[in-house]
Amino acid sequence: MTTDKTGTHGAVLADTGNEQDRPLVELRGAGKSYGTVRALHGVDLTVRPGRVTCVLGDNGAGKSTLIKIISGLHRHTEGEFLVDGEPVRFAGPREALDRGIAAVYQDLATVPLMPVWRNFFLGSELTKGRWPLRRLDIARMKRTADEELRAMGIVLDDLEQPVGTLSGGQRQCVAIARAVHFGARVLILDEPTAALGVKQSGVVLKYIAAARERGLGVIFITHNPHHAYMVGDHFSVLRLGTLELSADRGEVSLTELTDHMAGGAELAALKHELAQVGGVDVAALPEADDLSAPVAAPSEGKS
Ligand SMILES: Nc1ncnc2c1ncn2[C@@H]1O[C@H](COP(=O)(O)OP(=O)(O)OP(=O)(O)O)[C@@H](O)[C@H]1O
Ligand SMILES: [Mg+2]
Repeated sequence: MTTDKTGTHGAVLADTGNEQDRPLVELRGAGKSYGTVRALHGVDLTVRPGRVTCVLGDNGAGKSTLIKIISGLHRHTEGEFLVDGEPVRFAGPREALDRGIAAVYQDLATVPLMPVWRNFFLGSELTKGRWPLRRLDIARMKRTADEELRAMGIVLDDLEQPVGTLSGGQRQCVAIARAVHFGARVLILDEPTAALGVKQSGVVLKYIAAARERGLGVIFITHNPHHAYMVGDHFSVLRLGTLELSADRGEVSLTELTDHMAGGAELAALKHELAQVGGVDVAALPEADDLSAPVAAPSEGKS
């Protein structure tokens, strides 16, 4: 009896599990050349609902190129790009958006002097009445923006305040809430914490987790293995345009992830260069192991 029940239950669970786990976006051996520059080569990446896929890598590793392919800004020149299991080649970001793929860039497309609620609906304003009496439905836009921001746990004192008066972290959060409201299923964040301090980074990481809770597939691009490890379910490290590591959370420790980002060989080379400059006590510099060992949580690391 019990085995029957368990069997049925197990089967149901397995079914929904498969359904929910179906990749939203997939790259298979994807690459991109700009003329003779091969910026990306042979990259595999899977984005699933309710999971955060972190893309890490040093400057010029190909992170932006990767997400430009997914967000429809650039076309891949090799390999496959699938959305909902179907090969695609977007003509532009509009087509990606129509498939629920939204990108939030560092230089956000917000208008600093406009109020928060206006920015929330920028380009998709709600109206009421019919032509020629059609006008902006300000009350509804304010209410909706307020509800959506609260649903993401973002509480702003005043939605009338210009976006320019918000902190960088808050602006990122407004952009994330907006993407979620307009139906994003895949949210791409290009270095959202790069210009932020410890506390504000924590706030953005919290909304990345909130977006995951709402079932979105998140692609989180960052230089920072600590930030990645706080929220990541999967880690893809790019180096010179190819994948140097692709591992689920259970397969890699923060120390290993940090090692991949600040490889021992490169650190040794850096030390060697510093030694030639003079004025640097090379012997006192940390070893690769030291660099990756002490890990302070952001809340502890407040200055
Ligand atoms: N439009 C372009 N034309 C030619 N080469 C490009 C173009 N965009 C990027 N590249 C080259 O492709 C490589 C990868 O660049 P990409 O911007 O994807 O790196 P990234 O990982 O985002 O770096 P960063 O951390 O500095 O943002 C670099 O060598 C870069 O010079
Ligand atoms: Mg970049």
